[in-house]
Formats: sequence, C-alpha cells, structure tokens
Amino acid sequence: MRTQVVIVGGGPSGLLLGQLLHRKGIDAVVLERKTRDYVLGRIRAGILEQGFVSLLREAGAAERMEREAFIHDGTIISYDDAQFGIDFKKHTGTSVVLYGQTEVTRDLYDARAAVGAKTVFEAADVAIHGADTDAPYVTYVKDGREERIDCDFVAGCDGFHGVSRQTIPESVRTDYEKVYPFGWLGILSETPPVNDELIYANSTRGFALCSMRNANLSRYYIQCSLSDHVEDWSDQAFWDELRRRIPAEAADRLVTGPSIEKSIAPLRSFVTEPMRWGRLFLCGDAAHIVPPTGAKGLNTAASDVHYLYHGLLQWYEEKDAEGIDRYSEKALARIWKAERFSWWMTSLLHRFPDQDPFDLKMQRAELEFLRDSDAAQAALAQNYVGLPY
Ligand code: APR
Ligand code: PHB
Repeated sequence: MRTQVVIVGGGPSGLLLGQLLHRKGIDAVVLERKTRDYVLGRIRAGILEQGFVSLLREAGAAERMEREAFIHDGTIISYDDAQFGIDFKKHTGTSVVLYGQTEVTRDLYDARAAVGAKTVFEAADVAIHGADTDAPYVTYVKDGREERIDCDFVAGCDGFHGVSRQTIPESVRTDYEKVYPFGWLGILSETPPVNDELIYANSTRGFALCSMRNANLSRYYIQCSLSDHVEDWSDQAFWDELRRRIPAEAADRLVTGPSIEKSIAPLRSFVTEPMRWGRLFLCGDAAHIVPPTGAKGLNTAASDVHYLYHGLLQWYEEKDAEGIDRYSEKALARIWKAERFSWWMTSLLHRFPDQDPFDLKMQRAELEFLRDSDAAQAALAQNYVGLPY
C-alpha cells in the first residue's frame, strides 16, 4: 500500500492533521493502536485556545463545539482566604473555549469517517523504517498479518509512550525533563459546576482546580502525593478535601455527587529536540508534555499541527521544503514558551514538599504581585489564551 503521509496515532494531533491534509487533497492513513472507543474513553482537559478553534473550523469539525462549548472570558485565582479574577477579554481582547478533549476527538473521528479517510484501529507493532531516507515506510500488524505502507512522510502523533520519538536515534535527540513531586487526583461528577469560571486555588493544603464540561458535568482536581492511589480516596474524602482548599463561599455552594470517573495523573515537563528526523515529524505529546496547570497540552499539539500542515502543504503544492525544514525550529519556539508558562503556573499554585519558609514567602509575594499588578495579569492572560502561532 502507498500513501502520501502516514500518521501514527489517532489522538487529537493525528486526527486534526489528517483532517486538514484531507481537505487539501493530501492522502494520509492514520494508524491507531487502540480501538476508537478506548481512545474516546480517555478523560483529558478541556480548554481550547482560539488557534485550536480556528484549526477545528478549517478541518470541518467545529460544528458541535460551536453549539455546545462554553466561552470563558477569565478565570479566578485563589489563595487561602483571598481570591481575584484574571480578565482575559480585558487584557487580550479574546477568550478561551471550554470543550472536553474527548468531544474534540469524537468530532474529529466523526469528521474523518464522514469523508471516508482511512483509519486503522488496533494497529499493533507499528514500526517506522527509512525515516532518514527519501523512501520511508511503516509496518504494522493487523489481525495477525504484517502490513506495509510506503509513504513520503511520517507524522509521529503517537503521544508520550509512542514509537515515533524512540525512532529518532538517541545520538540525534536531546530530551529535557522535569518530574514534579506530586500528582493530580481528578474527579468527574454529574453535578453543576461550582462557579461560572475556573477556580485555580493555592491553599496551605495544596492545589485545587474547579473546572467543568457542561452545565451538569463538573471536573475537579486536587494535588495529591505521588504515593497516593485512587482507591485511597473515597468520593467523600475527595469532596471534603476540595472544600478545604477552595474559597469558603465556593465550598459552601459546592454541589457534590458520585464520581463517574476518578484518576490520578503524574505531572511532568518534557521536550525532545529536534522534532524532525528526515521524513519523520513529531507532533503533540510525542514531542512534549506539560503539567496540566496551564491547560497547554492540547493547545501545543494544535500549534505543532498548524506548522506541520502548512509545511506539508508548501511541499506538495509548491515543491518548496522551507516549511518542513523549519518545522522543528518554529514548533519548538512556541512549545518552550508554553512549557515556561505551565511550569510557572505549577510553581505558583502548588505546595512543594521541599519548600522552606522563604520559598513560601516568595510564592505568596508572587501571588500578591499578580493580584495587584495589571501588567502581571496581562502577561498571564496572554499566555493562557495562547501566544500567536
Ligand atoms: N502505534 C499506534 N498508535 C499509538 C502508538 C503506537 N505505537 N502509541 C500510542 N498510540 C496512540 C495512542 O493510543 C493515542 O490514541 O497515539 C495516540 C496519541 O494520542 P495522545 O496521547 O492524546 O497525544 P496527542 O494526539 O498528541 O494529543 C495531545 O492529548 O494526551 C493529551 O494531554 C495531552 O492534551 C494533550 C493531547
Ligand atoms: C480541565 O477542565 O480538565 C482542566 C482545565 C484547566 C486546566 C487543567 C484541566 O488547567
């Protein structure tokens, strides 16, 4: 079999790239190692920058989002008994869109199926060959049979645990990593959100976040120890701890209910450079990871897709390699700024086991400067709504 682009991974990155390429007549095959239902069973974040929204519209997969998503013009930051708002609209003229990643992925799968583009589910043992030659190909096993796809390019959209990054020789790659000494315990509950906008809370007991998916589906997180296990936390224990960490008036009106999903996620910052090796391009979580505090995971995947899509378009339409040659440089320039913002938000809002009294004073001073400074709030707003592509 032959195609122009093999996309390894059927998550948001791979599906968005595949849809954009298809609409320009560029043929791509998506190889996904899980089933569609398994992929859609993942609960992930839900904040979309306008750049991502524009790409979804261009991909022809924005209709349900336009109908169902929430628009957020700001967010709340709280610490102990104080709280203040960050007004995105005032500082940037724009907002963020709140729409679950699961729904984005579902819409992209539906859009791909609607145009009859090829997606291979349960594609096992995907291997990328000849990435450093002009004739790359990908093999995989489906229903016990080895298959081969010859192609012009391979887009590695297979996430942090995928095969694509490992295909680039260690002698070529430089990995940068920071693992945080805590995790996030998250709950999904069919309850009305506690607040119209998100609440990011720094409390003496640790971080908490109040988010949502729709008017009757709330998403909450509390910072937890890396030694915690989900079974250590009853729903009641979670709600009690969340109440201790968020502002009193929010705690008083919090509507609790049974969890329909409960999980613990570790936090890490990670980037691999370069994001290209010959005809292989890494996209999204395959190349970088951020702690979820800044809601940048999905949105940095989107900007990678933007740069790669336009680079491939330039190649196929103008036989000009400038876009693909500069892909890694352009993607990394924006990724590192998102890494910094995510690291900064995480440092500002969490309690670290090794913080000494001076560190706590620095954190409190940073929060109070942010509370009082228009310039500091504008800087947070610019990063949160998304820096330009
Ligand atoms: N072969 C085929 N598919 C693979 C392989 C493999 N060897 N390894 C992983 N995959 C699939 C996974 O099953 C997953 O569906 O690749 C997909 C990667 O999707 P994501 O991990 O969601 O990564 P990405 O598409 O870049 O989206 C980034 O998703 O995980 C969140 O926080 C992340 O918001 C960010 C966004
Ligand atoms: C979420 O709604 O899951 C969410 C929102 C904002 C974040 C992280 C997660 O920073």
